[in-house]
Amino acid sequence: MKFFLDTGIVEEIREAAKWGFVDGVTTNPSLIAQTGRSQSEVIKEICDIIDGPISAEVISTTTEEMIQEGQELAKIHPNVVIKLPLTEDGIAACKVFSSEGIKTNVTLCFSVNQALLAAKNGATYISPFVGRLDDIGHDGMGLIQEIRALYDNYGFNTQILAASIRHSQHVRDAALVGSDVATMPYKVMKLLFKHPLTDIGLEKFLADHQKSLNK
Ligand code: E4P
Repeated sequence: MKFFLDTGIVEEIREAAKWGFVDGVTTNPSLIAQTGRSQSEVIKEICDIIDGPISAEVISTTTEEMIQEGQELAKIHPNVVIKLPLTEDGIAACKVFSSEGIKTNVTLCFSVNQALLAAKNGATYISPFVGRLDDIGHDGMGLIQEIRALYDNYGFNTQILAASIRHSQHVRDAALVGSDVATMPYKVMKLLFKHPLTDIGLEKFLADHQKSLNK
C-alpha cells in the first residue's frame, strides 16, 4: 500500500520525507488555506521535496472552468494530479483529463456508485472519505472494501486512495482490505512507529549494554 501525506505544511513533508516511505502528497482547499500561502507556491515546493503524485484540488465548479484550472495546475510540475470533486461537472472534467493523459484524483466519494462513475471515466485515483463516513455513523472502511470488490470484479485500474484517515487503526484496516493508497495527516503517520513494547524493549537493551560496559 502506498503512503501519501495529507497536508499542505511543507515542514511536515520535509520531516516525513526523511523516513523514506512517503510516496506522495494530497492537499485540499482547506489544507492549503491553513498554510496562508497560494496553492501554486505550496504545490511547487512540495514537488521539490517528494518525487511522487501530488494532488492539487480545483476550486472551480463547472466542467469548463475545472478543465482550465486543472490545466494550469498541471503545468506546475509533471507529478501534479488534478483533484476533482465528485459532481456531474467534476466527473465530466475527469473524462477530459483522462483522454489527455493527465492524472486525476476524484475526491469527496461516499458511495460505491460514485466510485463506479469515477472509474468509468478513467480516474487515476478515487478518494473515499473514511473518517467523515464514520463521523455520521456509517462504515467508512466498509466502503473501501466494497469499492475494492467492485474494481476487482471489472478490472478497473483506478486506484483506491483511502482518505479522511483519522488514526492508525484506519491505516491498518485500509491495508488489510486492499486499499492501493492511504493518505494521512503527519501526526497519524508518526503514530505508525509507536508501540509501548518497542520503547520498553529498547530501554532495556540500552540499559543492559550500559551495565556490560561498567563491569
Ligand atoms: C484528502 O485527500 C482529503 O481531502 C482529506 O483526507 C480529508 O480529510 P478530513 O475529513 O480529515 O478533512
